[in-house]
Amino acid sequence: MAHINENYLKLKAGYLFPEIGRRVRAYSEANPGKRIIRLGIGDVTLPLSKSIVEAMIGASKEMGSSEGFHGYGPEQGYDFLIQKIIDNDYAPRGVKLSIDEVFVSDGSKCDSGNIQELFPVDAKIAVTDPVYPVYVDTNVMAGRTGEVGSDGRYDRIIYMPCTAETGFQPDFPTERPDIIYLCFPNNPTGMVATKERLAEWVAYAKKNNSIILYDAAYEAFIREDHIPHSIFEIEGAREVAMEFRSFSKTAGFTGLRCAYLVIPKELKGTTRSGEAVTLNSLWNRRHSTKFNGVSYVTQKAAEACYLPEGKKEIQESIQYYMKNADLIREGLNAAGFETFGGINAPYIWLRTPKGKTSWEFFDYLLNEAQVVGTPGSGFGPAGEGFFRLSAFGKREDVTEALKRIASL
Ligand code: MLT
Repeated sequence: MAHINENYLKLKAGYLFPEIGRRVRAYSEANPGKRIIRLGIGDVTLPLSKSIVEAMIGASKEMGSSEGFHGYGPEQGYDFLIQKIIDNDYAPRGVKLSIDEVFVSDGSKCDSGNIQELFPVDAKIAVTDPVYPVYVDTNVMAGRTGEVGSDGRYDRIIYMPCTAETGFQPDFPTERPDIIYLCFPNNPTGMVATKERLAEWVAYAKKNNSIILYDAAYEAFIREDHIPHSIFEIEGAREVAMEFRSFSKTAGFTGLRCAYLVIPKELKGTTRSGEAVTLNSLWNRRHSTKFNGVSYVTQKAAEACYLPEGKKEIQESIQYYMKNADLIREGLNAAGFETFGGINAPYIWLRTPKGKTSWEFFDYLLNEAQVVGTPGSGFGPAGEGFFRLSAFGKREDVTEALKRIASL
């Protein structure tokens, strides 16, 4: 028999969200009459906006005509979409990008998982704890870590704990990393980084020759003006960072699939012999070898997000979810919970009641209130004792969930 990649056997249990799904299915089979409210996985619930749907219909019709038919598109994405991204998401913030610095893809989960291929197996990675599990698991699969210890941490990964005491801000790594994963607004804690703090990260990366993988998938939910939306708002970031962005949460594309990755030309790594190589060129090679591009219809849908009407509709959905976030935060606070995040992010991070671990609280909420959230420990050992609620539910579900929680 052929050998397998044994690194997969190092992975802790299943991926977090399927594990939650498994527990919820088991509960619902045993309790068929109970209505379960899902505020666990951050999946959008509002339908696609009118402009997006119309763009898809228009693009589908084009595809059905001989003049408008599109076969393989550019793997990197169509210029019509990339130019809109640059003009709308970056230029107004003073960030200049060229067309070939933006790579359109089918999701930031895929991009942030695949990007590790550009780095050698002995590259040292640093992650926050708690963290979006994809960053860790994909590096485990690649063999960049040792085994998981009894403390729930993998050997050879540098963890940067984020605790209530530090406002869930990671401190600089205790040893020099090659790669630093940062996510702001943060999944799962819902906290943000200020410009000053990001500038410190850029300076740190420069000093240590580290590369920052900056996940900004939730930037559209920032409400406070002084919070940066992109790491490229920070001077010097083009030399040390790349940025992941997504239409998933911003425009309800979790089922449609469209995202993009920005890799400035100044961002370089070196060969063992010291020759500098741009990561943009490596990713371009990887993307065009392993990916055939996002469908024309989907890219037209994404383009519609930048129409004046599309922008307005998307803003309405964002406001709807952020109103949910306000309700969840206020409802939980009134019920005596300590909460974090939820001001510039669609996630509310709460401390579990005394004596309950994250998974115990998960089971308790499921059994007693039929409300599903995400256990903090699923995002890393420092998430133990915390729990995440998503603001992406329907309003009536959010209010019902809060009512149930308050009556516990
Ligand atoms: C989450 O709930 O953390 C996200 O939905 C996961 C993702 O975006 O892949």
